[in-house]
Amino acid sequence: MTPTSPQNSEPGADPRRLAYLGTLASGLAHEIRNPLGTMKINLQLLEEDWADAANNREKKTLKKINLLMKEINRLENILDDFLRFARGYRLKPVDRDVNAILGEVLEFVMPEAESHGIRILSLLEPGVGKYPLDVNHFKQALLNIIVNGQQAMENGGDLIVRSHREGKQISIDITDTGAGIAPENLEKIFNVYWSNKKGGTGLGLAFTRRIIEEHGGDILVQSEPNVGTQVTIQLPASPSANG
Ligand SMILES: Nc1ncnc2c1ncn2[C@@H]1O[C@H](COP(=O)(O)OP(=O)(O)O)[C@@H](O)[C@H]1O
Ligand SMILES: [Mg+2]
Repeated sequence: MTPTSPQNSEPGADPRRLAYLGTLASGLAHEIRNPLGTMKINLQLLEEDWADAANNREKKTLKKINLLMKEINRLENILDDFLRFARGYRLKPVDRDVNAILGEVLEFVMPEAESHGIRILSLLEPGVGKYPLDVNHFKQALLNIIVNGQQAMENGGDLIVRSHREGKQISIDITDTGAGIAPENLEKIFNVYWSNKKGGTGLGLAFTRRIIEEHGGDILVQSEPNVGTQVTIQLPASPSANG
């Protein structure tokens, strides 16, 4: 996806009209997703049918099927990211052990990461304690950051997840040894639809920042090209979650 001009919010736009447009757009996304699912299932069957392609003609057909499958997966990703972003929700924060949540997310991503030559190092400081978290949304935010880190390490690397507490503030650092972010792009990465990845949606970090801020927290990014990136989530002593 090509970088587009950032547009996080429209000052002065009628909120009711925006909400209506949002509803329309999510409806459309849902409508597209169902037939897409049917197409995908049938393509999968076709893929199986042609899996043992013998001659050139058959191999060419299989290649086209694979390409269609890739594009369908891409469309599904776009719709999923969009729906996550556009869907109305209300956070339901409940006091949860921050390290336990981090541990669950790491366990979830571990197999996929390892298969891509990525080593996950978890440095969770004991006694970090609890914070009011909407577990599903917070996990999704963490996942978005971790997936970006993995995608930045095409040839493998280290993903370091650290938690610590300073006074009453809890910090979570997610560091990768990947491609890094060019200084001129650093301010754009949270903009909706800004992506420099093939197949990227540019919605992951925008959504992540919204979730973290709705938990009363902050998200910061430091990066050096060809060295890596560190994303820090700061959760304050006294949360003022406004979700
Ligand atoms: N850990 C990272 N390393 C390098 N670049 C990153 C990292 N995280 C985010 N980015 C940059 O920020 C952009 C936006 O990220 P995101 O909102 O998740 O969208 P997407 O992953 O779909 O591109 C990415 O396309 C990438 O250029
Ligand atoms: Mg992403």
